Amino acid sequence: MDKAKVTFLPYGKTIEVPAGYNLLRAAVGAGVHINASCGGAGTCGRCRVRVLEGETEGPGPDEQGWHRACQTKPIGEVVVQVAGDAVPDTTIMGEKRARVPVGRAVFEELNSDWHLEAPTRKRHFHVDPPTISNNRSDTSRLLRAVKNDLKLDNLRLSLELSRKLPKVLR
Ligand code: FES
Repeated sequence: MDKAKVTFLPYGKTIEVPAGYNLLRAAVGAGVHINASCGGAGTCGRCRVRVLEGETEGPGPDEQGWHRACQTKPIGEVVVQVAGDAVPDTTIMGEKRARVPVGRAVFEELNSDWHLEAPTRKRHFHVDPPTISNNRSDTSRLLRAVKNDLKLDNLRLSLELSRKLPKVLR
């Protein structure tokens, strides 16, 4: 069998995944958020699901019947119940809402109109090389170049950066 079909309860979301996918990966694809504190390494035990129907491959359930989703691969058609505490509690976000899977919704919202602007920018300046007639310090020549280009006054360069400047300029 080259595919598996997984239904996540209580959300009623079903997804077909390639053989070899684990239940955590299938949940991500289905938009069901399952807590995976260890990133799927199999060590945190937070990604608990109960296999209600179908066959799975993996280390098997614990004494209470919970499987670790990240370590469990579905075979054929599988129905699983996501543990209530394996889903993030959205009520801490200020609104009184029921626990809902937020994975895909949050991702789509974050992915919509975001424009990231870095707090720093890379700029290039032309710094005149030292000559017999222009024997100012490297720092002075750099500050002059920046001042002329950006029309800024009162520029300073830290001692630490001034010390690195000769290596950077040559
Ligand atoms: S994600 Fe940590 S044990 Fe599954």
